[in-house]
Amino acid sequence: MKTKLTLAVFLIIGFAALSFKSGDDVHKSGAFKYVGATTCVGACHKTDSQGKQLDIWQNSKHSQAFKTLQTPEADAIAKEKGFTTPAAETPQCLKCHVLGKDMDPSEFESSFSKEDGVQCETCHGPGSEYKKLSIMKDKQKAIENGLTVHTDGAAFCTTCHNSESPNFKGFNYEEMWAKIQHAKPKE
Ligand code: HEC
Ligand code: HEC
Ligand code: HEC
Repeated sequence: MKTKLTLAVFLIIGFAALSFKSGDDVHKSGAFKYVGATTCVGACHKTDSQGKQLDIWQNSKHSQAFKTLQTPEADAIAKEKGFTTPAAETPQCLKCHVLGKDMDPSEFESSFSKEDGVQCETCHGPGSEYKKLSIMKDKQKAIENGLTVHTDGAAFCTTCHNSESPNFKGFNYEEMWAKIQHAKPKE
């Protein structure tokens, strides 16, 4: 009920409502912007005490997912699938390998790079608002400001790791999560 009302009011006020930036409305409006891996990492997500998320991601295949599409091997796969464009320009390949190839430029800040393939915000949501330390420290506040938290990891991963991938060889969540897990160490 409340949601319906909020939505109705939101539609009437339209764009003006965006400038208020309060709670849920902003979340639904898509006012959060993608800031890119470098901004996400900042001074924090690279230290030992924070859990070295930068190193783990850089050394994972996710950070290379766009570059993978720029190879003759990828072009051959695309061709075999009947696509006439190179893999790195084929939307049906980009959709899992790159964040934002088909999104409006207004959703990105200039610090964002699509070349970074599957990156922090692919999985965690656009960070322009929750990146502030005062917000990030408080998980609930961070969620209200665009952070996505995954309670069912396997369900999330298989939105890309599925048989629609030309190279799909099955997906074992425990095994695959072990390869990229990057939790903050317990103090
Ligand atoms: C947005 C799509 C997407 C999501 C969501 C995603 N992945 Fe991936 N993942 C990829 C792509 C694309 C590759 C291949 C990258 C390459 O090789 O260039 C990949 C590769 C990997 C690899 C390396 C493959 C190997 O055999 O070593 C691991 C491990 C992995 N993903 C784990 C996960 C886990 C765990 C999750 C969920 C927490 C996840 N991925 C969610 C797209 C995704
Ligand atoms: C549904 C998501 C999805 C789509 C669509 C997709 N990929 Fe991938 N791709 C993946 C994942 C996930 C992996 C990692 C392989 C794995 O571990 O399952 C991958 C791996 C690869 C690799 C790495 C080499 C290998 O053998 O593992 C290449 C090359 C590749 N994809 C090319 C393409 C091309 C070309 C297209 C378009 C025709 C495409 N992909 C479409 C998800 C996708
Ligand atoms: C393939 C998806 C994926 C990518 C890429 C990824 N993460 Fe994560 N991350 C997860 C999942 C899934 C979890 C565990 C569940 C959760 O907290 O949502 C997690 C957990 C975390 C946590 C721990 C949260 C806590 O409360 O303990 C931090 C911090 C984090 N990620 C930061 C990053 C940063 C920074 C990057 C980029 C350098 C990144 N992640 C890239 C999927 C990803």
